[in-house]
Amino acid sequence: MNAVAQHPIPTGAITRAITRADCQRLDEADTLAPCRERFALPAGVIYLDGNSLGAMPAAVPARMQRAIEQEWAVGLIRSWNDADWYPAPQRVGGQLARLVGAQPHEVIVADSTSVNLFKLLVAALRMRPGRTVILGEDGNFPTDAYIAGGVAELTGTRFQPVAADDVMAALDENVAVLTLTHVNYKSGQRYDMAAVTRRAHEVGALVIWDLAHTAGAMPCELNACEADFAVGCGYKYLNGGPGAPSFAFVAERHQAALRQPLTGWHGHARPFEFGQQYEPAPGVDRLLVGTAPQLGLISLEAALTAFDGVDMNALRAKSVALTELFIALADQELAGFGFGLATTRDADQRGSQVSLTHEQGYAIVQALIARGVIGDFRAPDILRFGFAALYLSHADVWDAVAALKDVMQHRVWARPEFMARKAVT
Ligand SMILES: Cc1ncc(COP(=O)(O)O)c(C=O)c1O
Repeated sequence: MNAVAQHPIPTGAITRAITRADCQRLDEADTLAPCRERFALPAGVIYLDGNSLGAMPAAVPARMQRAIEQEWAVGLIRSWNDADWYPAPQRVGGQLARLVGAQPHEVIVADSTSVNLFKLLVAALRMRPGRTVILGEDGNFPTDAYIAGGVAELTGTRFQPVAADDVMAALDENVAVLTLTHVNYKSGQRYDMAAVTRRAHEVGALVIWDLAHTAGAMPCELNACEADFAVGCGYKYLNGGPGAPSFAFVAERHQAALRQPLTGWHGHARPFEFGQQYEPAPGVDRLLVGTAPQLGLISLEAALTAFDGVDMNALRAKSVALTELFIALADQELAGFGFGLATTRDADQRGSQVSLTHEQGYAIVQALIARGVIGDFRAPDILRFGFAALYLSHADVWDAVAALKDVMQHRVWARPEFMARKAVT
């Protein structure tokens, strides 16, 4: 597809009550609207959970079919060479580098976000011998805290989580590494990556950014911010599919010195010599551990074509317009139903999600899902709505808020089937 132009959408210009017709007019002016066709979404569904599991790009099924029926079934083990399976971690990493502001040889796709965080935390600590603190945020996604705690125990360092507002003040000469999620998974609050990285470097600390709720949702400039390391999910806004592998970024300047702890054979300089001594591969390849999950990689690779030609600044402009619209419609339509807003009203400080609070949040989300409006719930009271600008329209936002209003007006959420908790919320 041709390059998609930038297009600021002036929702703020609407001063009277917003109507569905207003939203349709915004859709007509939306130059990203054709990207919706790059996704295979079911009819009757408004998908506001792309921040958890992205929608399926239309390019994926045919590519997966070829991978399974030809490359696996017919090519068999020959496909590691003949179908270029072997270099997929580097190739797909290079493909998504543009989306995070990195050079292609600084990104690799492997393992899960949790595992990549483990590898990079240990590697970062080894680069700062004598320093004793892993600094993090209290309220970060749990796996980030669990992994940091586990690494601290293993390395004899201390994991110190502090409130988001206290991160800057807590940075001192004891901190070896700061580990933060750029956009908070619950509130959608976003750090100033450049400012935080700069402050961490002033005290000699390294920073690992978790881009789980950033990559594919907005522009991200890892190198312009002089970031050291980053990790992120392949299955959220990058739409790689359930359990798609994660990506890791290592700034070029750190690659030669990087020593990660999971010294598996795929991170070896010459894996197929089968030597008994570990010797790290050059560059970011040394982050590899074991055999790459090819089907997940192939799915992610095909999914990333949904971003072909997309200007990430245009994507961000639409994402801001959608979140602004959702907040404005929530103000207009949902007053008096007991909702709170857990996300900042300052678009510059948020990601691509809006979270509401309500004491019956779980049941309300279940009632919405039953109507085809899919968001999710995060304990204790957060209703989370993600706005993936590639496949959502302004009319979708209107219809989602209308469904929410109806669920509240008619107390649909109070039905017993919506109150019973499922395993995955
Ligand atoms: C901020 C953040 N980091 C990490 C993860 C989990 O990553 P993984 O399951 O790939 O280890 C999530 C999942 O939602 C997340 O929101």
